[in-house]
Amino acid sequence: MKVVAVVGSIRRGNTLKMVQASCSRFSSDEIDIIDLGNIKFSYCTGCLYCDETQQCCIDDDLSKLMGKVAEADAYIFASPVRWSLLSGEMKTFIDRLNPFATIGTLSGKKCILLTVGQSEKESEDAFSIDEGLKSMEFFCENAGIEVVDKVKAYGCLSETDISDSAYLEMCYTAADRLRSSLL
Ligand SMILES: Cc1cc2nc3c(=O)[nH]c(=O)nc-3n(C[C@H](O)[C@H](O)[C@H](O)COP(=O)(O)O)c2cc1C
Repeated sequence: MKVVAVVGSIRRGNTLKMVQASCSRFSSDEIDIIDLGNIKFSYCTGCLYCDETQQCCIDDDLSKLMGKVAEADAYIFASPVRWSLLSGEMKTFIDRLNPFATIGTLSGKKCILLTVGQSEKESEDAFSIDEGLKSMEFFCENAGIEVVDKVKAYGCLSETDISDSAYLEMCYTAADRLRSSLL
């Protein structure tokens, strides 16, 4: 089994820790991590070259990793919530998947979705975490990727807030569910 995990935050913080927790449930030869905080990649320009050719015309660090994305059986998509949306890093990554999404390359694959934000669970802002998650769910639904589990981590503002929290346990559990779904 091959799983690609995508870290959707440049900050070396909560999103990265959630991905590391989930990835620890797989062996190193089963996992490839695309850490968007560690590579240089460009926005989708919306040129629609991919609609005609099924390929992206951008040549950068991310384009070199797209073969791994296409070959994977499953994904771990992780993003912090920013203004009730997914991060700009994750949005750009998802936009760059357009060549795959439109021709069904990702259809039938599986994923888990990990989100984190500062809003407290019982607060009036808690909806923003749902909204952030929704934008990733919308992509998965359209690309035909089955969402096996989701983790919403509340109340995490500084980059270490998630450490030792119950949310990392949820990341382990979600990863175990993903693994089981692939056996
Ligand atoms: C520009 C910006 C907007 C944010 N908007 C939200 C938000 O709408 N809801 C929320 O709960 N947290 C919000 N946050 C807080 C982050 O989601 C939080 O700090 C998270 O832990 C960051 O994850 P990271 O450490 O992986 O980058 C925002 C942070 C920034 C910088």
